[in-house]
Amino acid sequence: MIMKFFIDSADPEQIKKYWDLGIIDGVTTNPTLATKVGRPFRDLVLEIFAIVDGPISLEVLSKDYENILKEARSLSLLHKNVVVKIPMIPDGIRAVKILSSENIKTNVTLVFSPAQALLAAKVGATYVSPFLGRLDDIGENSLNMLKEIIAIYDRYNFATNVLAASIRSARQVEEVAIAGADVVTIPPEILETLYKHPLTDKGIEKFLADYQQSGMDPLIKIS
Ligand code: G3P
Repeated sequence: MIMKFFIDSADPEQIKKYWDLGIIDGVTTNPTLATKVGRPFRDLVLEIFAIVDGPISLEVLSKDYENILKEARSLSLLHKNVVVKIPMIPDGIRAVKILSSENIKTNVTLVFSPAQALLAAKVGATYVSPFLGRLDDIGENSLNMLKEIIAIYDRYNFATNVLAASIRSARQVEEVAIAGADVVTIPPEILETLYKHPLTDKGIEKFLADYQQSGMDPLIKIS
């Protein structure tokens, strides 16, 4: 299976930039990201649907079973690519079980332990989102947690996709790829850094300077 990149953003401008660059397969949003753009979330979501043909996670705001179900069903009707993001709480897990039986795609979010990830897989979640950065913030080892989740899922052939979230650096993207995460969701500012290496920029300058200094005609002339 090919590792997927999602962009962790609700900003259509940023999403379009990385979609056009051809490196992202989907989008994850959360209520905090939704408020950051400064425009009605409904408008943003409609624009995102028009840009990205891939899974788009939209999070419920409800915390009780009945309302999570109602909200999730309505969100899923907005577009075929919607994945409903549901918090890792008992009512959320109960709702995921029903939504799975209705073939509604789900993403269990705010996961900080293998036990929580195991519950998400048991009820047939499409994705589980372990939050790495926030776990590291409190002095724990998020990479160990991720590796344990992957080991458990592999051991029992759970179909739930491991979606590494709360990513804070390019190195963390490398680490989750080595560990075997199915998906990593990356904020735009970190996506930008994936391209960068000082030796790349230096190398380009040197190649061009050498060619120009030689006085040779270019192989292809671009008018
Ligand atoms: O979208 C969920 C997650 O990636 C949030 O990350 O940086 O707010 O911890 P962060």
